[in-house]
Amino acid sequence: MNARTPFDTNTLDQLKAIALQALTSSTTLKALEDAKVQYIGRSGEITLLKRGLKDISAEDRPKTGALINLVSQEVEHAYAVQKDALETADLNAQLLSETLDVTMPGRPSPLGKLHPLSVITEDICSLFEGMGFTVLDDNACPEVETEFFNFEALNFPEDHPARDMQDTYYTEVASNVLLRSQTSNSQIRHMSNNKPPIRIISPGRVYRNEEVSSRKYVLFHQIEGLYVDKNVTFADLKGTLNAFISSLFGGNERPTRFRPSYFPFTEPSAEIDVQCLFCQGDGCKVCGHSGWLEILGAGMVHPNVLRNCGIDPDEYQGFAFGMGVERLAMLRDAVDDIRIFYTNDQRFLKRFQPSI
Ligand code: DAH
Repeated sequence: MNARTPFDTNTLDQLKAIALQALTSSTTLKALEDAKVQYIGRSGEITLLKRGLKDISAEDRPKTGALINLVSQEVEHAYAVQKDALETADLNAQLLSETLDVTMPGRPSPLGKLHPLSVITEDICSLFEGMGFTVLDDNACPEVETEFFNFEALNFPEDHPARDMQDTYYTEVASNVLLRSQTSNSQIRHMSNNKPPIRIISPGRVYRNEEVSSRKYVLFHQIEGLYVDKNVTFADLKGTLNAFISSLFGGNERPTRFRPSYFPFTEPSAEIDVQCLFCQGDGCKVCGHSGWLEILGAGMVHPNVLRNCGIDPDEYQGFAFGMGVERLAMLRDAVDDIRIFYTNDQRFLKRFQPSI
C-alpha cells in the first residue's frame, strides 16, 4: 500500500464479504481452519492490511486502523460462531451414531449342532438301550490305559502276534502304559467290578498308528457291547446285531455279511461287513476295492476273559462286539472320506441332525 494512496474502503468491504462467506460456508472444521489461515492467520489477507497501516499517513491511520480492526473482529467472531456450530454438529452426529437403539432387531446367533459322530453315537446307544443295554459314560474307561486292560486280560499274552493286529501307541509314562487301541478294555473294567447279568454299551475314543487314508485315521471311535448271562448263545449275538443293523440303516435293504474271524478274547469270532455304499459292491478306494466295509468285530466271550474277571465260564457265557463309529457314519450318511469328520468344515457339519 502506498503511503500517499488513500486507503480504499471498498476493497476492505469486499475482502470482509469474501472472508465471511468463506467462513460461514465451511462445512468441515478443516475447511474452516483453512479459511481462518487465509484471512486472519499470521499472513492472512486482513492481517497483512493491519501490517500495512504503518505506510498510511499518520492522519488517516487511526480511522483506517479502526476500520480494519472492526472487520478483523467481525471475521474473528464469524470464525468462532462457525467453529462452535461445526463442533456441535460433529458431536451430535457422533452421539447419534452411538445411540443404542433398543428397538433394533438383535443379531441372530446361529444354533450349534451336534457333531455327526456324536449324532450317530447317540443313535446307536439309544437303539441298544431299547434292547435293554445300559450305556456307560464315555469316560468310564480310560483312554490312557495299561497293557493289562488293553491286551493281557483280554487274552492277548505278552509277545502274542495278535497284538500286532493293532499298531499301538505307547507312552513315555511307563513301558506298559499306552493309548488304548480298542474299547474292549471296558469289558475287563466292567466285568471286574460287576457280576452278571451284564448288558452294557461303552462308547469311546481309540488310537492306532495307522497310515491315514480315506477309511483310516489315527484316532477313531468305537462302541463296545457286552452281554453276559446264563445260557447266552451265538444265536443271541446274531439276532441282536442283525436287529441293530437293520434299525440303524432305517430298515433300508443294505447287504451285510457275517464272516468267521479271529480275536483272542472271543471264541468263536466273527466280523460283520456292510456292502460298500459308494461302489455298490464293485470295489473302490473307500472299501479298498473289496466291495465291503467292515463295521464290527464280535464273538462269544472267551472263557479265559471271564475267568480273568472272576466270572465262572461254566456258569456264565457272553457275547461281545466292538464297532467302528466312523465306518458306520460313512455308510449311513454317505461320507466317502473319514478325514472330513476332523476338519471342522462348517458346510459338512451343518448337514447333520439327530435322526432317530
Ligand atoms: N476290539 C476289536 C477291534 O478293535 C473289535 C472287537 C472284536 C470287539 C470282537 C469285541 C469283539 O468286543 O468281541 O478290532
